Amino acid sequence: MCGIVGYIGNGNVYDILIKGLHRLEYRGYDSAGLALEGEDGKLKVYKSKGKVSNLEEYCKDKSLDAKVGIAHTRWATHGEPSDCNAHPHYSEDGKLALVHNGTIENYKVLKDALMQHGCTFHSETDTEVLVQLIEYIKVKNNCSLVDAVREALNQVVGAYAIAVIEKEHPDTIVAARQSSPLVIGIGEDETFLASDATPFVEYTKEAVYLNDGEIAVIKQGEPLKILKLDNSESKIDVKTLELSISQLEKGGFPHFMLKEIFEQPSTLKTCIRGRVVDDGRRIHINGINDHKDTFLNAKRIVIVACGTSWHAALLGKYLIQDMCKIPVEVEYASEFRYSNPVLDNRDVVIAISQSGETADTLAAAKIARKMGAFVYGISNSVGSSIPRETDSGTYLHVGPEIGVASTKAFTGQVMVLTLLALGVAQLRGTMESDQIAEIGKEILRIPDYVEKVLKLNEKIERLSLIYTYARNFLYLGRGYSYPVALEGALKLKEISYIHAEGYPAAEMKHGPIALIDAEMPSVIIAPNDHLYEKIVSNVQQVKARGGNIIAIVTEGDTVIRNIADHVLEVPPMPECLTPIITSIPLQLLSYYIAINKGKDVDMPRNLAKSVTVE
Ligand code: G6P
Repeated sequence: MCGIVGYIGNGNVYDILIKGLHRLEYRGYDSAGLALEGEDGKLKVYKSKGKVSNLEEYCKDKSLDAKVGIAHTRWATHGEPSDCNAHPHYSEDGKLALVHNGTIENYKVLKDALMQHGCTFHSETDTEVLVQLIEYIKVKNNCSLVDAVREALNQVVGAYAIAVIEKEHPDTIVAARQSSPLVIGIGEDETFLASDATPFVEYTKEAVYLNDGEIAVIKQGEPLKILKLDNSESKIDVKTLELSISQLEKGGFPHFMLKEIFEQPSTLKTCIRGRVVDDGRRIHINGINDHKDTFLNAKRIVIVACGTSWHAALLGKYLIQDMCKIPVEVEYASEFRYSNPVLDNRDVVIAISQSGETADTLAAAKIARKMGAFVYGISNSVGSSIPRETDSGTYLHVGPEIGVASTKAFTGQVMVLTLLALGVAQLRGTMESDQIAEIGKEILRIPDYVEKVLKLNEKIERLSLIYTYARNFLYLGRGYSYPVALEGALKLKEISYIHAEGYPAAEMKHGPIALIDAEMPSVIIAPNDHLYEKIVSNVQQVKARGGNIIAIVTEGDTVIRNIADHVLEVPPMPECLTPIITSIPLQLLSYYIAINKGKDVDMPRNLAKSVTVE
């Protein structure tokens, strides 16, 4: 939620900030703004409602000369998207400008107190309270900016990543973090800061991830200094980035989402690499091998996640219960954290998050750890908060996902969960070694299967034209295909704004069946698995009520082919691997329907990719 960028150095400040904002637009695009300070001694603040391109348009005839600058792209929490509520916010006397990602929970109390001291407010945001508070403390105590920031943050309750600049000292940025990400890029005679490393990856590979409760003082010509809220100094831990610039570009595709769908053969290959060894006979996951006793003694596994990651989590339950015979519970992180969870040191909690920054998932992981559970993180974003707050874990290694609707991260998550389940089964001896080898061999072929399924692209594009104007969709599946149905429905909702419901196919007769008519298509995921005969009946029930059916079936299927209106065939494979394959035609179907409707698939309305607020 919200992206922030900052720069100090001799480069073109405006260009660096704007390019950085474009990279962070996946975090929100309700408004954008920047503050620049140059040799003319002026603090220039420009803001505009809508996407970063609107801000660029607005800045065309403005003075852009600068040595230092901060910028922001917003996902609105307090106050509607408007020019006035856009960041940066500045202090009453116009001497400070600040950008913020997060939420100040006690902003009302602070605002009332500041108003009693004569402050006036111009926006409806919680952020303006923070900048006014810093300025108030600075004047009252006649102290430096960093001291004022530290004292203000000691009064604040909530989540923040902030960057502040000061008119009187245009050679310094003060930045701080609590529960919202912030990373500093160290270049030669220049320093960057941003919500993630993508805005500066082409300038430097040296990065310092700020920890909660730290304040960074970035001063031109001086080494980076990091302080804690109690004013003690923190050690600086420089990491080397593995990101490359080509991963952040569309590579000839019209949208990141389509690029990411088509990347899946190679992202899955990278995800599997080194983890399925001896021609598929052995599973090697460091995160498990380093904690064998924990997995041998685990009495229960609880998986917490949000959104698409929650759908992967649900698949994790089917996989782990089938393979490891350990009871699994799956919880929405936002519910789990407030549900007085009962956990102890024989519970393993798995926190799944593509971004590694989702506020609810991060909070759930912290609670579980505090209660003594062993917490295992599954994330895509190296160096993000969740991997840093967990006892062990596995990265997806599918490369940065930029399209807001998750695609390659979902299949990567399901693959990691499959490997995890197999790895734990191997450890606990709950599967025969030849069963593991049979699945392991097929896992190695998954990239080829995905390649084959992607050949359905043109067929799905044509099919999408028939259903573009449907107003409701039903997605049905059983067993391993039920979470796939949920994910297919979510994909369609997110990017085409068509109402869609995912349902366990057998539950349909307890309600949704009443909605079925010629106007409401059903997408039925029906590979040839142990529930095949059962789902054939459900397909018939839909047809008997005049519904149109798009079915995802296994190659060679003849029964459903004769009932459904359209079939999309996927290669045969072990049941536990089908979700990775059957979810791909659904990604393409959503993509093309959204495109036919003229929607912005990479930046759907109201959504953001990294949800760092509750
Ligand atoms: C947002 C994104 C979804 C994502 C969810 C959880 O809603 O738009 O695509 O699935 O957050 O994000 P995470 O990074 O924790 O997987």
